[in-house]
Amino acid sequence: MELADLIIRRLNQLVTCSGPVPKRKEALKEIGLIEEAAIASYKGKIIYVGNDKDLEKNIKLTPETIILEAEGLVGFPGFIDPHTHLPFAGTREKEFVLRIKGASYQELASQGLGIQTTVRATREITKEKLIELCLERLDTMLRHGTTTVEAKSGYGLDWETEIKQLEVLNEVNQIHPIEIVPTYLGAHEVPPEYRHDKSKYLELLIKNIMPEIRRRKLAEFIDIFCEEGVYSLEETKKLAQEAKKMGFKIRLHADEFSPLGGAELAAELEASSADHLINVSDNGIEALASSSTVAILLPMVPLFLRLEKWPPARRLIEAGATVALATDFNPGSSMTECMPLVIQLAVFLLNFQIEEALQAATINAAFSLGRDRWVGSLEVGKNMDLVLCSMPNYLHLVYHPGPNLVRHVFKKGNWVVQDGQICRT
Ligand code: NIG
Ligand code: FE
Repeated sequence: MELADLIIRRLNQLVTCSGPVPKRKEALKEIGLIEEAAIASYKGKIIYVGNDKDLEKNIKLTPETIILEAEGLVGFPGFIDPHTHLPFAGTREKEFVLRIKGASYQELASQGLGIQTTVRATREITKEKLIELCLERLDTMLRHGTTTVEAKSGYGLDWETEIKQLEVLNEVNQIHPIEIVPTYLGAHEVPPEYRHDKSKYLELLIKNIMPEIRRRKLAEFIDIFCEEGVYSLEETKKLAQEAKKMGFKIRLHADEFSPLGGAELAAELEASSADHLINVSDNGIEALASSSTVAILLPMVPLFLRLEKWPPARRLIEAGATVALATDFNPGSSMTECMPLVIQLAVFLLNFQIEEALQAATINAAFSLGRDRWVGSLEVGKNMDLVLCSMPNYLHLVYHPGPNLVRHVFKKGNWVVQDGQICRT
């Protein structure tokens, strides 16, 4: 009999996403559903997952044990958002309006708008103000069920601002319940100061900025925007190889607007993820399927940019690639913090089955971040990161889009959202 300090019982259903990791092909549909379920934890670790009727046989209460009667609720693993650009300043609704009137993302970028607009604002903002913005956004994420988030720098493109963004992420990680996994995205764009000498900028990254980030342990991953007019395949490869030598793990913005071969390169580099993939080639799909690189799909982006072209999710899944889903939260191409929306879009636009989308937003996303031993599924020994939604069964997460159905969130056994409100301790 194990001691429990937190018990959630009489759940309508519990989606556990248990089983071998990562989930590919048919395994992607096996969500480990338990009807009339209970789950219990002690000091933040799960000690029981199963039927409600077997709960008493397996766990022991203390007078302090918190017990939540969860009739009418369905439990899910905390959502994991493996691709965001969280620490940015300013918003870009004016460009958004130009786009809905017909301008393309690349046209705006070539006029010095796009990412450059956010770079100017992020260079100017104070660290304190950026911390405040990140905390507000993280609260929104938490209220929509996200408990772990990857977050990239990349709106400084100079030494000082990139470090400021990463410091903000590390500081916010100490004070907010969501776990933040920081990524250095110095190669998000070519900074205006280096427009005519990109190789000099890459040298600065390799010789100075990356070693400092590594030494101060400010980021675990690096990311590169491998794209026509940004960083070529060769530049991406060189930078990623240097980063690997320093001990960084790799994520790539790959094949977003043009089929450069970013997916093939990500597989060759044994990158943790290749993200976007709207224009991935057949070879790219094969390369991902036979690698451990996760294909991260961001369905809000083609919708928001009105590209009318979608990443070939079905072909990736059927070829055997590990797929995950993310918001890509950023002010230019996806202004949403909300993982349930992304799960819905994956079903509506990318032809995911609901079960596949759930695993892609939890356990496979955790795998891409190297966190699958602790988070992403509800299994004994893992962290008690749990989302409780008000619904009769799990299908409603997609079937009933629009309102936020998240009622409660637990992070490492702490009750962090209660009745839809953030709990301040
Ligand atoms: O992932 N593609 C590059 N970066 C972001 C967009 C950034 C921006 O527009 O500010 C993305 O879509
Ligand atoms: Fe992105």
